[in-house]
Amino acid sequence: MRPLIAGNWKMNGLGSEGIRLARAVCEGLGQGYTHVDVLLCPPFTLIERVARAVAGSAVAVGGQDCHPKTSGAHTGDVSAPMLKDAGATWVILGHSERRADHGETNALVRAKAEAALAAGLTPIVCVGETLAERDAGRAEAVVEAQLAGSLPEGFAAAQGVVAYEPVWAIGTGRTPSEADIGAMHAAIRARLAARFGAGGQGVRILYGGSVKAANAKPILAVPEVGGALVGGASLHAEEFLAIVAAAPVALA
Ligand code: 13P
Repeated sequence: MRPLIAGNWKMNGLGSEGIRLARAVCEGLGQGYTHVDVLLCPPFTLIERVARAVAGSAVAVGGQDCHPKTSGAHTGDVSAPMLKDAGATWVILGHSERRADHGETNALVRAKAEAALAAGLTPIVCVGETLAERDAGRAEAVVEAQLAGSLPEGFAAAQGVVAYEPVWAIGTGRTPSEADIGAMHAAIRARLAARFGAGGQGVRILYGGSVKAANAKPILAVPEVGGALVGGASLHAEEFLAIVAAAPVALA
């Protein structure tokens, strides 16, 4: 399996700065990182322009959300076929900010993931506990319930990706210990294997939450960590490129 390093730009980036960032990532990668899959997920408004800016490079483009329906009377929403049409090949779904800000349930995330698969997009489904849930000793139970409810049947066969993002580590500069990351990723792998059999072994499990150049190497070396979903640090080409450079040559 190849590591995947994905940048989630969230609600950041106007035209010229977004294009500059995407170009800087492409140029920095050059021919040097053929062992890593690199993905940029800009806001909807920049998908088409970023896709054009990275065309011909190894960098892929993804959305940050999609609607479960393909079209219709859903003001302000964007469908999976629209993302595909704009040049995206991936989509992040069920991010904790969407679960919190938009009340997204596991069932809705699952419906969105089904729509993504039907449109030929690879979904990255996010899971992760709050600090209160971790303190109550419920972190694994919460994540297992999110996996059970959010992943559709064809997920492993389509090589969907899971991102473990503890809510309390997002944008805070705090990260779990490597032992805690390893324990959660092992638990996620066990659930994937139990549900999808051999196919569950091929699902990459990303870690996300305050990943930066300074901590990427040890995090990416934890067993069952298949890459990183990077927020703030992905807005700086040098930082993001350093995280790509920290990815192992091959996953165990
Ligand atoms: P930060 O890297 O800014 O903590 O964000 C992580 C994240 O939410 C990526 O989806």
